[in-house]
Amino acid sequence: MTLYKALLAQLFGLITAIGINPLLPIAYSGLESFLILQSSTAMLCSTLLHQRRWWLIIHILFLPSALTLHSLELSAHWYLLTLILLTLVFWGTIKGDVPLFLSSTAVVDSVSQFITKESAQHFAELGAGIGTITVPLAQQHPQLVINAWERAPLPWAINVWRSRHYANSRCYRGDLWNCDFNQYDVIFAFLSPAVMPELGAKLQTAMRPGSLLISSSFAIPDWEPETIKQVNDLAKTQLYCYRINY
Ligand SMILES: C[S@@+](CC[C@H](N)C(=O)[O-])C[C@H]1O[C@@H](n2cnc3c(N)ncnc32)[C@H](O)[C@@H]1O
Repeated sequence: MTLYKALLAQLFGLITAIGINPLLPIAYSGLESFLILQSSTAMLCSTLLHQRRWWLIIHILFLPSALTLHSLELSAHWYLLTLILLTLVFWGTIKGDVPLFLSSTAVVDSVSQFITKESAQHFAELGAGIGTITVPLAQQHPQLVINAWERAPLPWAINVWRSRHYANSRCYRGDLWNCDFNQYDVIFAFLSPAVMPELGAKLQTAMRPGSLLISSSFAIPDWEPETIKQVNDLAKTQLYCYRINY
């Protein structure tokens, strides 16, 4: 469905630009205005179709990137290779999964402090990407048992490689919803606002009472955080920390 919406938005942008661009005064009807018309209409459609916000960036960049690449006259193999790489990194994004964004080192430091404060023994990261969090934690906390859950094959493989020297870290390639949440003292997630209600509903009873959920950047609606840690990084990340009580 997500892919159909994206294609529809692009197509509508194209039709609008083809229809309106020739009607503009000659001075304004060049390629630039065609691209502006196409991408802004695609973005508007995407918003009206309730696509997630990151699609706006894709809609701005899609046609200009396609034209630029076309003008470079690259061999078809490069397109195939790029497609394979993007598919392996953004595995479930087309179906609505959260894409890969990396946490800052300041976030890693804050999570590490929580691990120490909680005297945590078992830690899980939901959507661990390339191990930005789990690799330094495995190094800093050799006694901590770390489970990194990641669905996209390439980030997972990179994390497996980066974690190869740390016996305390295990990378699972799979859907985070299949994780046994009950076994962890601390769970960290950096996902998206769209999944937070579902995550909250699931973790409310699936996590152990007394355990801690740290959600980077996105709050769980209607949940009262025990603390909100303001991280001193470029994105001014906030860590929403929820104590599980039921
Ligand atoms: C915003 S990135 C965070 C990456 C990493 N945790 C960090 O903080 O640097 C979200 C990650 O979650 C992964 N992801 C999204 N949905 C998932 C799912 N249902 N199961 C497992 N991983 C998922 C994505 O592939 C992506 O790598």
